Amino acid sequence: MNPNKALWEKGDFTRIAASMRESGEALVKSIDIRKGLKVLDLGSGDGTTAVPAARLGADVLGVDIARNLVAAGNERAKKEGLTNIKFQEGDATNLEELADDSFDVSVSIFGAMFAPKPFDVAKEMTRVTRPGGRVIMGNWIPNDPTLVAQILKISSAYTPPPPEGFVSPMTWGIESNVIERFSGAGVPTEKISFARDTFTFNFPGQPSALVDEFRKYYGPTMNAFEAAEKNGRADDLQKELEDLFTSQNKSQRKDTTSIPATFLRVTVAV
Ligand SMILES: C[S@@+](CC[C@H](N)C(=O)[O-])C[C@H]1O[C@@H](n2cnc3c(N)ncnc32)[C@H](O)[C@@H]1O
Repeated sequence: MNPNKALWEKGDFTRIAASMRESGEALVKSIDIRKGLKVLDLGSGDGTTAVPAARLGADVLGVDIARNLVAAGNERAKKEGLTNIKFQEGDATNLEELADDSFDVSVSIFGAMFAPKPFDVAKEMTRVTRPGGRVIMGNWIPNDPTLVAQILKISSAYTPPPPEGFVSPMTWGIESNVIERFSGAGVPTEKISFARDTFTFNFPGQPSALVDEFRKYYGPTMNAFEAAEKNGRADDLQKELEDLFTSQNKSQRKDTTSIPATFLRVTVAV
């Protein structure tokens, strides 16, 4: 089985995505998604950005490698009675089922960054977006002091080193890498722009309960705990993550958690 697919089908990302809804909606509102636009959401999960884009009237296709998340996205769309959105399985490194120039806007928020072969990803996102359209990516930033970069950093200290040739998803958070990858897809550097932005994780429980959600449902954290358990270090990992989540929590209430995390927003004018 493709390890990239196995990683995301392993857990249940919908449990984490539930804490990302407000920021997903805000992001979509900030990128001028309008009725009638054809929008691709790549690595869509269960539709954190795809569903609000459809609510704004765009014709949305969510593509994701994980079968369970595609099913969850279609279920959400059905429940909301949205007929202008569909989720289907696909791999960001090879979107052969999608024709050239199919979309006005191709969005990938913390999605395509997790695919291997980043040069192929940049090429595919550019290919399926029409000339004059936009590619918009949200990518976590390596070594950033905020939540997600720190979760991945802490977790990596408990997991065996990746196989040779593995390109870290976090390299998508470095501007020079992004430029190199889209240049490889034929996009001139001046058409690529960057901004720092924030996604906030809002959770109806204490920080330690949010750590439990990551431990039980977020593939990369599940793998870190499995490796840590083998070495008798699971309690250390739990403590490091609880300290992290608690120190980053900005909620004023004792029974809720609110953690902002910084990401790199990439806009490519195709
Ligand atoms: C961190 S989740 C983000 C999901 C969604 N964009 C959101 O913000 O809720 C990463 C998503 O990327 C998907 N993904 C990972 N590798 C992929 C690939 N090669 N092609 C398509 N989707 C992929 C995963 O299945 C998962 O849904």
